[in-house]
Amino acid sequence: MAKTVIVGITGSIAAYKAAEVVRGLSKQGMEVHVMMTEGACKFITPLTLETLSGNPVAVDMFSEYQREKVPHIAYAKQADLVIIVPATAATIGRLATGIADDMIGATVLATRAPVLLAPAMNSQMYNHPLVQNNLQRLEEIGYEVITPALGELACGDVGDGRLADVSHILEQVIGKLGGQNDFQGKNILVTAGPTREFIDPIRFISNPSSGKMGYALAQAAADRGANVVLISGPTGEKPPTKGKVVRVTTAAEMLQEVMKYFPKMDIVIKAAAVVDYRPQSRAVQKIKKGDGQIQLSLEKNPDILKLLGSRKGEKILVGFAAETQDLVKNAREKLTGKNLDLIVANDVGQAGAGFSTDTNIAHVLHRDGRVVEFPLGTKTQLAHLILDEVLSIAGAEV
Ligand code: PMT
Repeated sequence: MAKTVIVGITGSIAAYKAAEVVRGLSKQGMEVHVMMTEGACKFITPLTLETLSGNPVAVDMFSEYQREKVPHIAYAKQADLVIIVPATAATIGRLATGIADDMIGATVLATRAPVLLAPAMNSQMYNHPLVQNNLQRLEEIGYEVITPALGELACGDVGDGRLADVSHILEQVIGKLGGQNDFQGKNILVTAGPTREFIDPIRFISNPSSGKMGYALAQAAADRGANVVLISGPTGEKPPTKGKVVRVTTAAEMLQEVMKYFPKMDIVIKAAAVVDYRPQSRAVQKIKKGDGQIQLSLEKNPDILKLLGSRKGEKILVGFAAETQDLVKNAREKLTGKNLDLIVANDVGQAGAGFSTDTNIAHVLHRDGRVVEFPLGTKTQLAHLILDEVLSIAGAEV
């Protein structure tokens, strides 16, 4: 059955982009109903949205009574997902305080479906503590905020607060509603982010991993029904909306936590960039700067993935390979050396791929010799494609 998305449009110049969101969702075969504030109608007409969604648009809560008995409750019950796009500071404030005197406020309060907010406003407004507090409050009760983009704003300022790309918004909605529950009941462990190996209390060896790849995998797996445990090194990423997050700092801590959860897992995906070497000893106090050179003695960190490979049993093990040359050859060696089912090879020297970007480019190598190439795409898209490859493993029974 087609999924029903209720789209709330509020009074921002970015309202015209909501038309593309509505069109994109309709094209995906979703049933789309639109509700608009009076402010939104100053920027875009209900007729446009009516035409694109194929359904009447609700603006005035009371005039809607002619069509539906209690319109906001009807919307709230029908919804598989509610998205407010764009969400102005005013609407965010109203939702955060439970004000329900228009269609959007009342529907959001009445629904038990997931709620997504795509804020759009001037960056001074977006970064104002009141708006940030309101967003935090909404996130705390489970609403999801689609982070606005950086760039030129309608007022001419440059900063954050610009509505996220329509393609990104569509991806978030489709990801939530994809209808795929193909990992239902499966236990998946994902690792993400870097580790830090301390030299003294304030200095450490690490790498530029942001955690984006691993967090995208954890979110995608959770959206597809898996029970996810995410073991994360230090990152600034927002935790996935579902599942458990375990925070670690060093490779030794990651090893300990991974081994704790491993026995109950069906699938393990190791996207973390574990630092290979750690200082042989950690100075208790800050090392004072002298005139000469200092020598740092390093010892090998345990290879967590290799250890899992030696105890693999029936579990599916997916590794990553971060390479700067001989991508496929080096990845193949890791696949066999660590006894994996799949390895995701990314050339971290390539533009748009690897560390800290929102996108990635990958070759996925199977144990049976198959190689699947994935061109430039968002890390969320790649995460879903990797999960599809996991499903494709013969006899995997996931
Ligand atoms: O976090 P982002 O900014 O989004 O960047 C994503 C990423 C580049 C970190 C990710 O796509 C990626 O490539 N992750 C693996 C990085 C890495 O450590 O690759 P490697 O080739 O050194 O290690 C191979 C595999 O062994 C990895 O799955 C790694 O998690 C694992 N490993 C490595 C060393 C070690 N001591 N223990 C391990 O488990």
